[in-house]
Amino acid sequence: MRETWTFHTATQLLFGRNALRQLGAIAGRLGARRVLLVTDPILTRAGLAERVRTPLAECGITVSLFDGGEPEPSLRAADACIAAGRQFQPDALIGLGGGSNMDLAKITATVLAHGGGPRDYVGDDKLPGPIAPLICIPTTAGTGSEVSAASVLTDTDNHIKIGILSNYLRPRVALVDPLLTVSCPPKVTADCGIDALTHAIEAYTAVDNATFPLPAGERTVYQGRHPLGDVLAEKAIHLIGINLRRAVAHGDDLEAREGMALGATLAGMAFSNVGVAAVHALEYPVGGATHCSHGAGNGLLLPFVMRFNLPARRREMATIGRLLGADEDAEQAIAAVERLRADIGIPQRLRDLGVTEAQLRPFAEKAFGIQRILRVNPRPVTVKDLEGILRAAY
Ligand SMILES: NC(=O)c1ccc[n+]([C@@H]2O[C@H](COP(=O)([O-])OP(=O)(O)OC[C@H]3O[C@@H](n4cnc5c(N)ncnc54)[C@H](O)[C@@H]3O)[C@@H](O)[C@H]2O)c1
Ligand SMILES: [Zn+2]
Repeated sequence: MRETWTFHTATQLLFGRNALRQLGAIAGRLGARRVLLVTDPILTRAGLAERVRTPLAECGITVSLFDGGEPEPSLRAADACIAAGRQFQPDALIGLGGGSNMDLAKITATVLAHGGGPRDYVGDDKLPGPIAPLICIPTTAGTGSEVSAASVLTDTDNHIKIGILSNYLRPRVALVDPLLTVSCPPKVTADCGIDALTHAIEAYTAVDNATFPLPAGERTVYQGRHPLGDVLAEKAIHLIGINLRRAVAHGDDLEAREGMALGATLAGMAFSNVGVAAVHALEYPVGGATHCSHGAGNGLLLPFVMRFNLPARRREMATIGRLLGADEDAEQAIAAVERLRADIGIPQRLRDLGVTEAQLRPFAEKAFGIQRILRVNPRPVTVKDLEGILRAAY
């Protein structure tokens, strides 16, 4: 039985339209004279890297651009970014992009501070101390990586995602400027948005902090459900429910973009302390095999896991129904998520992703191996349970 809980986030959060204009002053306060800007070719071409460089240059800060980022970044991309960092010797880093580029900047800031390579830090709580000063600027809404304790990479040789989790990975500054998300295409907007909703719902329905089943001797940044996580998740669910359809249908709807940016960051603050659960565990093998985006996989699986968890979280699910604009009723919550998912074009069934029935059992077995997140689930899950969820989603 646990008696305490805690809360970590980025040291500073700056939120709002044109927040980017304050970047030079913020970097200056971190003592930065040389900044490594980590991004990808799409964002360079879209002019976002230049928009970030300008306020830095105006403050006399030297910027080196690394734009070798890629979606779901590989260990190879991490090695390339680290090599660029070792050569340039920055005194601060900026991660500009979706979760992929921010996570690349996080692992680079880790290795620049502590040496070794990315694999040395894989797992829970393996960092020995603070990383190099890091500012994260999300361009999607989103993973919440700008406030989170995670960096997710892909081991392309073994077709698996690898997670590095440590409170030291939380950026010094999360600069969230919703205007940077306006150029997100509809599919990216939909996938990232439903990922954020998944973060909020998994945190809101997680196992209680008091009964969080952490085996003796194991350490984790996740703690199960606590009151501050609940407050953040409730607000996030409401904001995403109101704004996600609008942001997908009309990318230039600034009010919707702003609501999504806030919702995603709040969801990040919630899940990165409370934890994510069975949806994310099941998405790892599904995403690994089908190469669907993290968000699309989560969005597909979310209502099926909600149904499985319903007996343990009826009251919370009813509140989710109300927060999503439906009746205060658990069944209505699931129906509301299904409607939202359909309206924004998320695949409805695993077979739509090309999954075959023969893959379901191996997926369940792989997901069962990810105990560090499965233990956050409000209902204990067996391999058979996971297979049942996948069959329902098939
Ligand atoms: N660190 C965490 O806490 C955390 C949490 C959830 C997911 N993740 C990881 O984050 C990654 C997914 O991140 P994501 O969903 O933000 O997508 P992403 O970073 O992979 O970006 C998807 C694509 O959208 C493009 N893009 C991003 N912003 C754009 C913009 N404003 N305009 C035009 N194009 C834009 C990118 O260039 C990229 O090609 C996965 O690897 C996932 O595992 C990390
Ligand atoms: Zn996620």
